[in-house]
Amino acid sequence: MSSSKRKLKRIGILTGGGDCPGLNAVIRGVAKPAHDNGLTVIGIIDGFEGLVKGKAIQLYNKDVSGILASGGTILGSSNKGDPFHWPELVNNKIVIRDKSKEAMRNYEAWNLDVLIAIGGDGTMKISQSLIEMGMNVIGVPKTIDNDLQATDLTFGHDSAVYVVSEALDRLHTTASSHHRVIVLETMGRYAGWIALNGGIAGGADIILIPEIPFYWEAIFDKVMTRHMMGKKFSLVCVAEGAKPHNGKMVIKAKDKKRTDPIQLGGIAEYVAKMISDNTNLETRYTVLGHLQRGGSPTPFDRILSTKFGTYAIDLAIRRKFGRMVALKGSEIKSVEIKEAIAKQKLVKKTDQAVKAAVAVGVSFGTKEL
Ligand code: F6P
Repeated sequence: MSSSKRKLKRIGILTGGGDCPGLNAVIRGVAKPAHDNGLTVIGIIDGFEGLVKGKAIQLYNKDVSGILASGGTILGSSNKGDPFHWPELVNNKIVIRDKSKEAMRNYEAWNLDVLIAIGGDGTMKISQSLIEMGMNVIGVPKTIDNDLQATDLTFGHDSAVYVVSEALDRLHTTASSHHRVIVLETMGRYAGWIALNGGIAGGADIILIPEIPFYWEAIFDKVMTRHMMGKKFSLVCVAEGAKPHNGKMVIKAKDKKRTDPIQLGGIAEYVAKMISDNTNLETRYTVLGHLQRGGSPTPFDRILSTKFGTYAIDLAIRRKFGRMVALKGSEIKSVEIKEAIAKQKLVKKTDQAVKAAVAVGVSFGTKEL
């Protein structure tokens, strides 16, 4: 009997793209109710890479017990395993191949009725292409970047913001003791949510985000004004994708094997040097990097992940395929994956968080706000 007709029996689950706190809580949230409903859960190893290469294990209750608070993913993940953009080394050159048929073959060989794909925009785009090939997929939105339009929040974001806020608290005391400017670089790719929310929570004086290109003079003015008013230190929270007006994002590396070949990084060092050169104030920088992605999820993310996971298995049992779980206000709902990938969620100048930050004296490196 074709998998589209028969009663739901076997579900596959994978975690795709960069990891983040809360992935294990989602896996647990899917698997526990699935087992209670008599379903078999197949955990696919290393995201879509495992789907193409045929790497999977059966997940039993003992495997998903005790993982609520643990960071990372028990299944492993990869941001190089896009079946439609599969890099292979041929004569020392990377050749991109389409391995989607292999992915489909393994899905069928494992006799799966549905695949639950936990991931960010890259994972949802791949999922949509697999849906178009006939696979049943349900998406669960993950990313510290919080840049998926169709959900108010992705899990992982709150944990990353917590790390940024704590880092700023720590930098605050040392910046104050030494009368320094300290620039903190956050992740977030092309969206400024982590720097914005973390910067507000940690009391940054200047927040720089990709959506609001900054003017150097506005930054120098802000730190010098604080200095002259007797505030001998300043904290700058800069998103890795922030850029000067008429300037470019700072790219650290390019890797054709990744789903997104661009690796951002380096803006904090640049901003720190410019501040130091132009104001003569002693300036340092810190790059938070993967600290934002590792470790235990916050209680908020544990709750959101559990709600997302249990809602996803409920959708699967009701055969609501092709949909992504989403937070809308305070309720968990679902949207078409197609809709979820249509647009990236970016910070708007009119967002309440931007207005609140400006109201308490934060500069975004522009006089326009
Ligand atoms: O999308 C999550 C994210 O952590 C981004 O904020 C960051 O730009 C990117 O992934 C880093 O990816 P990688 O760990 O592959 O360098």
